[in-house]
Amino acid sequence: MTDAAAAETSFLPVVVAIDGPAAAGKGTLARGLAARLGLAYLDTGSLYRAVGAKLLAEGGDPADAETAAAVARALVPADLGRPDLRSEAVGTAASQVAANPRVRAALLAFQRDFAASPPDGKAGAVLDGRDIGTVVCPDAPAKLFVDASVEIRARRRMEELQQGGGDAIYAAVLADLKERDARDRNRADAPLKPADDAELLDTTDLGIEEALERALAIVQRKTGLAVTKQA
Ligand code: CDP
Repeated sequence: MTDAAAAETSFLPVVVAIDGPAAAGKGTLARGLAARLGLAYLDTGSLYRAVGAKLLAEGGDPADAETAAAVARALVPADLGRPDLRSEAVGTAASQVAANPRVRAALLAFQRDFAASPPDGKAGAVLDGRDIGTVVCPDAPAKLFVDASVEIRARRRMEELQQGGGDAIYAAVLADLKERDARDRNRADAPLKPADDAELLDTTDLGIEEALERALAIVQRKTGLAVTKQA
C-alpha cells in the first residue's frame, strides 16, 4: 500500500462532544464550533425530543416504556424536522423517555454512526447532548461540559420560547428546568455528568461570542483543528 493509501484508510473523523444541562447554551456553541471548524453537527436532544413529540401526538404516555421504545425504533429522519420539537411539553416528554434504557439503546447506533461517518465528507462531527462524552463517544479527543446557573438558563429558555411566539412564565420555566435536570442527573442509565476528561465551560457570565471563542480555543488545543471559516 502506498503512504497516501495508508493515510486514506487510517483517516478517523474528529469528534467533539458537548454535554451539559438544559438551556446551558450547548446547541449554540455546538453549531458555532461546527461552522467555524468545518465539521458536521448533530443535536442528539432532537432524537429524544422527536420520540417525545411523536408519543404525545399519538396520545401516548411517555411513562409507557414499551410504546416509547417502539416509537424510538421506528424513528425516521423526517421526524427530526417536526415543528413542535422545541416546546417545553416536548422537552419534558423527551427527558421522560430518555430515562428508558430501551429508548437510549434504540438511538445509540444512529449517533455513533453519525460520529464515525459524518455526512458530506466532513472531517469530523460535533455532537451535543447529555452523555456524548461518557457513553456515545467516550474516545472523543475534545469534550466540553457546558454549564450555567439555573436562573440564567431559565432566562435564556424564556427568550427562546418567546422568540418562537410562545408564552412563557419565568417561575414555570425555572421549575421545569430544575425538574428536568434532576431527572437527567439521577437516572440510572447514562446520567448527565461530566466525563472525567471533559473541560468545564461555565457560560453564566459569558455572551455567545465570548463563550464560542473559549470553546474554540479548548477544541483547537485538544484536536489541532484549524478554523476554516472566520466569524
Ligand atoms: O435543548 P435542551 O437543553 O432543553 O434539551 P435537549 O438537548 O433538546 O434534550 C431534551 C432531553 O433529551 C433532555 O432533557 C434529556 O433528557 C434528553 N437527552 C438525553 O438524555 N441524552 C442526550 N444525548 C440528549 C438529550
